[in-house]
Amino acid sequence: MNQDELKRQAAEKALEFLPDSGILGIGTGSTVNYFIDLLAPIKGRYDGAVSSSEASSKRLQAIGMQVLDLNSAGELEVYVDGADESNHQLHLIKGGGGALTREKIIAAASKKFVCIADASKLVSVMGEFPLPVEVIPMARSYVARELVKLGGTPQWREDFITDNGNLILDVHHMEIMEPMKLEAEINNIVGVVTVGLFAQRPADVLILGNENGAKVIEP
Ligand code: A5P
Repeated sequence: MNQDELKRQAAEKALEFLPDSGILGIGTGSTVNYFIDLLAPIKGRYDGAVSSSEASSKRLQAIGMQVLDLNSAGELEVYVDGADESNHQLHLIKGGGGALTREKIIAAASKKFVCIADASKLVSVMGEFPLPVEVIPMARSYVARELVKLGGTPQWREDFITDNGNLILDVHHMEIMEPMKLEAEINNIVGVVTVGLFAQRPADVLILGNENGAKVIEP
């Protein structure tokens, strides 16, 4: 199976974790795109979806699903999203697609976070994937200097503006031994909007597309 088939397999398994009705939380990325496609035949069960990006909103609308504002949706039963890396505690690195802030908000507002990925995303120690940090534009250089003090090598994702009008620094060479602590430290830097470390609010379920069938990890 190639990586796309593994992503689709994980997305298919996630259907088993959906409520029968209500409003769904939907993330961003190529794995979630498979999931949105799979929602098409069952969209009638749901009142709509809250989405973490303009790209996912468009795709949801294309299958005929109403996209709703989180402010009027209340607490969501389930949020389905991908990840760039996960450790065995289901702490995640997210934001490869730049949607980390809205993803973190929807994850926080959801009872259950179901993460879908191909098996290559599971690692022992996170940090090989550069850690995305969304920053207010005028704070870019200051935040970069602070990230160097924390041991990282930040790189500005040039020609990219987030859906919130901000910039992304991708932090290379971080060996993330204490994800909760690092998340708090980076969140504390003035000018940081969000760090793409999801440790304080990890996934509740990780579904990994695998050669031998989808593997479900619930710590
Ligand atoms: C989007 O900003 C990211 O957090 C994605 O969830 C993550 O990059 C996973 O994307 P893929 O499903 O494309 O690997």
